[in-house]
Amino acid sequence: MVNKASKPTDSMIGHDTWNIQLDANGQLKHFLTTEGLSTEILTRILDTAESFASINEQHVKKVPLLRGKTIANLFFEASTRTRNTFELAAKRLSADVLNINISTSATSKGETLLDTLQNLQAMQCDMFVVRHGESGASHYIANRVAPHICVINAGDGSHAHPTQAMLDMFTIRRNKGDDFGKLRVAIVGDVLHSRVARSQIHALNILNTGDVRVIAPKTLLPTGIEDMGVGVYNNMEAGIQDADVVIMLRLQKERMQGALLPSEQEFYRMYGLTEERLKSAKSDAIVMHPGPINRGVEIESSVADGKQSVILDQVTYGISVRMAVMSMVLGREPETNGETIE
Ligand code: NCD
Repeated sequence: MVNKASKPTDSMIGHDTWNIQLDANGQLKHFLTTEGLSTEILTRILDTAESFASINEQHVKKVPLLRGKTIANLFFEASTRTRNTFELAAKRLSADVLNINISTSATSKGETLLDTLQNLQAMQCDMFVVRHGESGASHYIANRVAPHICVINAGDGSHAHPTQAMLDMFTIRRNKGDDFGKLRVAIVGDVLHSRVARSQIHALNILNTGDVRVIAPKTLLPTGIEDMGVGVYNNMEAGIQDADVVIMLRLQKERMQGALLPSEQEFYRMYGLTEERLKSAKSDAIVMHPGPINRGVEIESSVADGKQSVILDQVTYGISVRMAVMSMVLGREPETNGETIE
């Protein structure tokens, strides 16, 4: 059973009214960044994901919401969790899915990105899910596709990774309740290169999180990070003190130019999340990581696998959150009372 999206309100459109993510009615058309979206839209993504979570626990994990729609996954960068959970999300919504393998596609014969997209449009695709090494790639594509096509950013350079941020918000809400105002959230590690951290910070602020902190050596913090409304710490123990949520980031060595770090061992000594260090956070703090994790570089194995870790739950929730975003951009949201999804 599908419903027509409800009437937009001013708060749904957010401060960024020129945002190409929204259609003329203020509804989500593309999902490129969490920046500039309203609390109402982010909350609606979380609520819609909640209504899909039960489907993912059923024996038959499928609903016909996107039957007849065709979704192309275009991954120009490596991915395990994101690509596979987008594929599963699309399949559980009964869409047809094309996984374009860039290394074996005509891109490797010199075809331009726009030509590849035009060919996929000629195959009557309805949605492109794009991961690309260049910041802004999904905005570029969204500005050039045919009007009926929706674009979802699955990570662009070090700019944004909005579905990851939303599955992280979902994980926090599931564990800590929906009052983000009382939470202290610490994000630790390579903030400079992390599209995940940027999208998380915007989402946490939009959801009115009480205290958002970043913790990193100065060389791994972008200039002007304070202007994003976060507390900045160079000392790990001080930064995670009494945190409710500790989010570890991977060192993005593939995006590092020059020597930003003395060594991985030195980084681990200063910023690695060990069992001992985790004691500075609240005793019921949850530990998160977008993956892939580097054991012994940013996190101790016993913490990654320990009782406070929700790292694998993040992966599970990624399916429901991606189902929610895909159904919202295509205007096929389920009734969110949890009972009317066929
Ligand atoms: C992240 C990414 O690709 O940005 N991973 C992911 O999507 N699960 C983080 C990372 O690669 O470190």
